[in-house]
Amino acid sequence: VSDMLIDSFGRLHSYLRISLTERCNLRCQYCMPAEGVELTPSPQLLSQNEIVRLANLFVSSGVTKIRLTGGEPTIRKDIDEVCLQLSNLPGLKTLAMTTNGITLANKLPRLKECGLSLLNISLDTLVPAKFEFMTRRKGHERVLKSIDAAIELGYSPVKVNCVVMRGFNDDEICDFVELTREKPINVRFIEFMPFDGNVWNVKKLVSYSEMLNIVVKKYTGLRRIQDHPTETAKNFRIDGHQGSVSFITSMTDHFCAGCNRLRLLADGNFKVCLFSPSEIGLRDPMRCGVDDNELKEIIGAAVKRKKAAHAGMFDIAKTPNRPMIHIGG
Ligand code: GTP
Ligand code: 5AD
Ligand code: SF4
Repeated sequence: VSDMLIDSFGRLHSYLRISLTERCNLRCQYCMPAEGVELTPSPQLLSQNEIVRLANLFVSSGVTKIRLTGGEPTIRKDIDEVCLQLSNLPGLKTLAMTTNGITLANKLPRLKECGLSLLNISLDTLVPAKFEFMTRRKGHERVLKSIDAAIELGYSPVKVNCVVMRGFNDDEICDFVELTREKPINVRFIEFMPFDGNVWNVKKLVSYSEMLNIVVKKYTGLRRIQDHPTETAKNFRIDGHQGSVSFITSMTDHFCAGCNRLRLLADGNFKVCLFSPSEIGLRDPMRCGVDDNELKEIIGAAVKRKKAAHAGMFDIAKTPNRPMIHIGG
């Protein structure tokens, strides 16, 4: 057994996030600047075969969960085939996707057939006009439809990711919690994180403790439930609700000690931490003909250099990083 995926702090990385594209059909303010971002020319993006080759290498070294991200993963033309190839990798237990839900409803039956087993859908507001403001596009209704389609197709739990920003949607926290009364969804309130070109500033950050206070005041039956040690979320149930509520507290209470995540970007760069500025190119070595053992050495060396944690929230804001749309969260 190789120790390629164990870092110098003993963390085993069994979860690989693969960004399938830098393109998106929305322009969310927390993810990218209004003018969009520079796109990597397509010959420099990983092909389907290259993605599958790398994924296979990770899975054979201990990755059991792959999450597809973007950009928006569903706009990749070969998304069905990518899902099919990845879900068939021996040893992979979970093939997940994080999507904005705009074009998901129609594609979902096929994606399910191709082995997509878990779904997280982003939705930051329940007000259509606010959706258009934040995403700089239309489509609120379609996201709601996709959430329902996912529930109907038996995805469980469907996670709804809500990035909370002061002055934008902090007044909707209880409305989102209310959705969990009848719908079997897991609503996850996410602390707003800084990335290149987004509109982050500390005043817009609504902290975990502040969000929790808002929920506790109205929902006295809120109970903390056990989280998995590698989870990004702190989880809660409310008596009488079908769904559940969680908080992702990257800024005020990071969860790096239990980190099991690695990232492969659409251009073939490998990132050992969401906030690490250094990236390791895997595409060019592959195209120069290195064999799997050499690739494993490159990957293993990068994993060994992973830091214990990213520094405090102001350091993160100062560290150069890519725009979120390139990293995929
Ligand atoms: P599950 O696999 O369902 O637990 O989802 P996830 O939280 O791993 O992934 P998702 O794409 O739904 O991301 C939700 C939020 O968590 C986004 O804001 C991500 O940027 C953030 N997130 C995901 N992984 C990490 C991580 O390793 N570190 C930090 N700080 N945030 C992360
Ligand atoms: N801070 C926190 N979460 C973010 N996401 C995108 N940008 C940010 C940010 N600046 C979330 C998206 C998506 C997930 C992959 O990351 O809403 O659900
Ligand atoms: Fe892991 Fe880096 Fe996220 Fe911390 S910030 S949980 S180390 S990826």
